[in-house]
Amino acid sequence: MTNYLNENWKNSMRLKLDYNNMMTRIIGEKNGLNIDDILSLSDLLNIAHDDFTNKKGKGNEFLGFLDLPEVSNEILDDIKNTADDISNKSDIFINLGIGGSYLGSKTLFDSLTSTYYNELSREKRKNRPRVYFEGNNLDCDSITDLLELLPNTKPEKIEEHFSIGVISKSGGTIETALAFRLFQDRAKEVYGKEHNNYILAVTDKANGKLKEIADKEGYKSYVIPDNVGGRYSVLTPVGLIPAAVFGVDIHELVAGAKYMKELCKSPNILENPAYMYATLQYLSYKRGRNISAMAIWSKSLESLGFWYDQLSAESLGKDGKGRVPFTIVDTRDLHSRGQELQEGEENTVVTNIFVEKSVNDITFKSNSENADGLNYLDGKSIKSMLSGAMEGTNYAYAKANRPTMNIVLPELNAFTLGQIFYLFEIATVIEGYMMNINPMDQPGVEAYKKFMFANLGREDMKKYKDEFDNRVKPEEEFLI
Ligand code: PA5
Repeated sequence: MTNYLNENWKNSMRLKLDYNNMMTRIIGEKNGLNIDDILSLSDLLNIAHDDFTNKKGKGNEFLGFLDLPEVSNEILDDIKNTADDISNKSDIFINLGIGGSYLGSKTLFDSLTSTYYNELSREKRKNRPRVYFEGNNLDCDSITDLLELLPNTKPEKIEEHFSIGVISKSGGTIETALAFRLFQDRAKEVYGKEHNNYILAVTDKANGKLKEIADKEGYKSYVIPDNVGGRYSVLTPVGLIPAAVFGVDIHELVAGAKYMKELCKSPNILENPAYMYATLQYLSYKRGRNISAMAIWSKSLESLGFWYDQLSAESLGKDGKGRVPFTIVDTRDLHSRGQELQEGEENTVVTNIFVEKSVNDITFKSNSENADGLNYLDGKSIKSMLSGAMEGTNYAYAKANRPTMNIVLPELNAFTLGQIFYLFEIATVIEGYMMNINPMDQPGVEAYKKFMFANLGREDMKKYKDEFDNRVKPEEEFLI
């Protein structure tokens, strides 16, 4: 039986939130919380719960992500078939998208494929294409480098065939649209009239330039639902199409989210991991901890931190409020950020993300020379050293009265990732409601765009050009 249909297996994969090191009994009175502090927020949380479950809070028109774990098997099968078709006809898949239109799939790619996936033979990639993420920056170097990997004429060999997945809800985001123009041109050059077989669009059902182009050129399209915002869209075709292309079991991913949805149904803060996470962050923020570090104890999960950075920063950083999220990978960044987290200003909460069991664990063996003096590690696995490092670090922080909490994934797989995506999405909305802000919009992201577009000469932004040209100009005096 498939794992995600087996209740015992699912329960063995349950994520755990361990907040012991947030509490007074471990980190002391000065910075610690006690249960009464947490329960004192029950009223506020009940209002947030009501707004959330009855979809009547701020930005409720974008709460469609809550229902995504209920997506039907037919829809998932269809996505898988499309991904199989892409894999059968191409060995390079170019994923174009930015922000919420790529960070989720990038997380899935980095965490669920081999670190050197693109260097593996096609056979070792199980006949799935190599994957490249573009359209996520205005970057002439990386675009040029990727174009250089592509053929200029119709390839004979499968290794040179490429497909493009272009993902944009608005259909007009400049980074993605610009890259798409360049890669589409190459597809036209190489495949001529048949180029439409090699391009797939994920966009709005009716609006936007990308939708117009897809219809005109006959590209296969998938829809991002109106009621799902970009950074909450990993379980729509935005994340599912690329994930299925590089071989992730998308049924298992969605099953993981569904499992977490059940865990997060209870209005009781002491039972609901998303509500507890939101409350702990909210309380800490109110007490001056306005920075939150996500310490990821696994290199391949680093992108989860970037996905969360966006979710948290864009959802909660508004109206002059919001903690500042950032991502570190440990033990790597204990050698850089570690100093400040241990002894710097007392304004940070650390959330450790730890994977309990690694498929590739390595056991250390002693040798007769012991030239490096490492024989004391004989018989220890790298994973157990990592776990020891995390416990040691948490203790060192706790001794200095600094709060941490752990989110533990029993294993790194599609099911646990589905859980963690969904956990953080719910926690973010609830935290936003507790802060009395709209966690679903991003008005600040629009502010720079009008001046950038006016500056670039976009007709409909002309009205901002005068203001921009008349801005206070830099003085020589302040240039060294
Ligand atoms: O969360 C968001 O809404 C944003 O990060 C968007 O996902 C991002 O700006 C990309 O937008 P689009 O999908 O319209 O190209």
